[in-house]
Amino acid sequence: MTHAAYLALVDELLEHNRRYYVDSAPTISDVEYDRKSKQLDQIEAANPSWVVAWSPSQRIGHAPISEFVKVERAVPMLSLDNSYNLDDLRAFYDRVVKGLGSETPIFSVEPKIDGFGIELTYRAGELVLAATRGDGKIGEDVTANARTVHGVTGKLREPIDLVIRGEIYIRKDDFVAINAARVAANEEEYKNPRNLASGSIKQLDPREVAKRPMRTILYEVVDGETVARGHLESLALAKRVGLPISEHNATATTWDELAATIESWQNRRDDLPYELDGLVIKVDAFEQRAQLGTTSKFPRWAIAYKFPARQVTTIILDLEINIGRTGAVTPVAILEPVDVSGTTVSRASLHNWDQVARLGLGKGDRVLIEKAGEIIPQVLGITESSGGARFATPTECPVCGTTLERAEGKVVLACTNRLGCPAQQLRTIEFFASRGQMNIDGLGEKIVEQLVSAKLVSDVADLFDLTAAQLEKLERFGKSSAKNLIAGIAEAKKTATFSRLLSALGIANVGRTVGAPIAAKYGSLRALRDAVAAKDSAAFVAELCEIEGIGEIIATAVDAYFRDPAAAALVDKLLARGVDPIEPVAAVNTNGNLVGKTFVVTGTLSKPRPEVQKDIEAAGGKVVGSVSKKTNYLVAGADVGQAKTEAATKNGVAIISEAELNALIAGS
Ligand code: IVH
Repeated sequence: MTHAAYLALVDELLEHNRRYYVDSAPTISDVEYDRKSKQLDQIEAANPSWVVAWSPSQRIGHAPISEFVKVERAVPMLSLDNSYNLDDLRAFYDRVVKGLGSETPIFSVEPKIDGFGIELTYRAGELVLAATRGDGKIGEDVTANARTVHGVTGKLREPIDLVIRGEIYIRKDDFVAINAARVAANEEEYKNPRNLASGSIKQLDPREVAKRPMRTILYEVVDGETVARGHLESLALAKRVGLPISEHNATATTWDELAATIESWQNRRDDLPYELDGLVIKVDAFEQRAQLGTTSKFPRWAIAYKFPARQVTTIILDLEINIGRTGAVTPVAILEPVDVSGTTVSRASLHNWDQVARLGLGKGDRVLIEKAGEIIPQVLGITESSGGARFATPTECPVCGTTLERAEGKVVLACTNRLGCPAQQLRTIEFFASRGQMNIDGLGEKIVEQLVSAKLVSDVADLFDLTAAQLEKLERFGKSSAKNLIAGIAEAKKTATFSRLLSALGIANVGRTVGAPIAAKYGSLRALRDAVAAKDSAAFVAELCEIEGIGEIIATAVDAYFRDPAAAALVDKLLARGVDPIEPVAAVNTNGNLVGKTFVVTGTLSKPRPEVQKDIEAAGGKVVGSVSKKTNYLVAGADVGQAKTEAATKNGVAIISEAELNALIAGS
């Protein structure tokens, strides 16, 4: 490998990034891309002095900094004047037309992404500065962080000078996923994608920033070697050299066209993957912009059109109590249906009971609710109290009557009647059948509900007693669908592995990763059951703890499950029905760069975790579910939970990034 070949590989990968993030037209597969970027990591590890600032490897993020350097602008960055309705906008249109005299303007109408403003400076095609707006005159240098943002290329396709502004944002689906992971880890949810994006870009540790799935769309060429005479032409140039531009910029000339374009957005704003807080209307021609000039605060040639607020008030009709598979009892507000910019909202999440108490909610209250994109509506507070009784935190499970408990230090309230509670039974059966668990084809949520309410099934073992004749009698079932479901259940029984069965049982903290070494040690459900019976609790927990990746918490949960009379009866019932798959013995790879090393993989990575696990195993390494002294590495992806990193630090386990893992696999 020569230095020139290294630079060519950097350029090649940059081009693939631009094709993916700018043109939405990748020309190689993800696998091929990963292979090339692994190769790049290897070369860089072997030749550290070669690494260039624009290398795609630099988007992983590097050493933290102590503060952001201030950058002063010669010409301050202006913000935009706002309009909130068509009358305001008409006044702007008339001012522009009057200001231009005999010339007619062409307007660009663009989505106003609700993110965080950024200004990128490229010199001879290289990214040299990414600065925040700050107070307009003085911003902050966030270049290292901006490099981690998808779409911010380190180098343009052409060696031109360019200063361009845009928005950094987090997509709605990514935001929902991040919050779901926070909820699962019992951590407080982030408020909205904008706060998360701006909070992330202002972190001092770029490695933390790299964990957030941030993207950018650029919208205003401020300076540079462009021969464009107008705004849209200058954006087309930016796109050509490899920068992401909105695909939704439209033009309008007459007032009617402008008004119609604005109207058309009312129904489209939810269709975009990111949140919009309005539109921006700009005069296109640079000469006309110059003619119109600026006030001390705003350009006279552009204006923001803010969408109407998505906060509305409605009445709380009731409080529904939801019971999850593992017994978590959560409140949901049932609302008088209300229209929030085109969609009807009739339920809102209240997250947890502390939130209900904090807001002091009661039946009949008028409350302010907010809906952002497809994100679940939130109750913000009471605008008019009904004066009636306030909702109390339940003390008993509304379905089975068991006293609710709160695990130490956790906000979640739970029903501990794990197998006896009908609500949990339903969720447990759904989970058992689902993809990734027992994979029973054709057994979705609705059918499980139907089977449970017809009293054909009350636990997962009952599934294996079902007959086609029983199913045919049910609504929505015909001869062939009944036969298919029975065949699906038989097939699942035949093809399952013990580790999947173990995970499908839904024992606390025992998923596929944790289940695998336990399954490997005992080989079958029957053997595990017998092993529990042969020892007392303390001895069995100690035995489990000897397995790599199994700690006290998991071991205790497994022990408790098999000693619980209801669970033990269920296990016997499954065995009696022949549900006892064996665990295939995995071929151990003895030559690879990771032989003898144990990994825990956590957080969001560039590909699904099972694939990362496969890579590790292919290199001879082992993946376990929880961090212990026996673990060698914690591979931390985006949004890694604090508990895992704390456990790693405590146990002296090295925390590495996905790129570092790839370097280990490659042996560099
Ligand atoms: S143009 C002088 N275009 O909205 C031109 N801004 O104050 C100023 N924004 O902070 C900006 N989408 O972060 C422009 N298509 C767009 C935009 C946009 C979002 C943000 C920008 C700015 C704020 C307006």
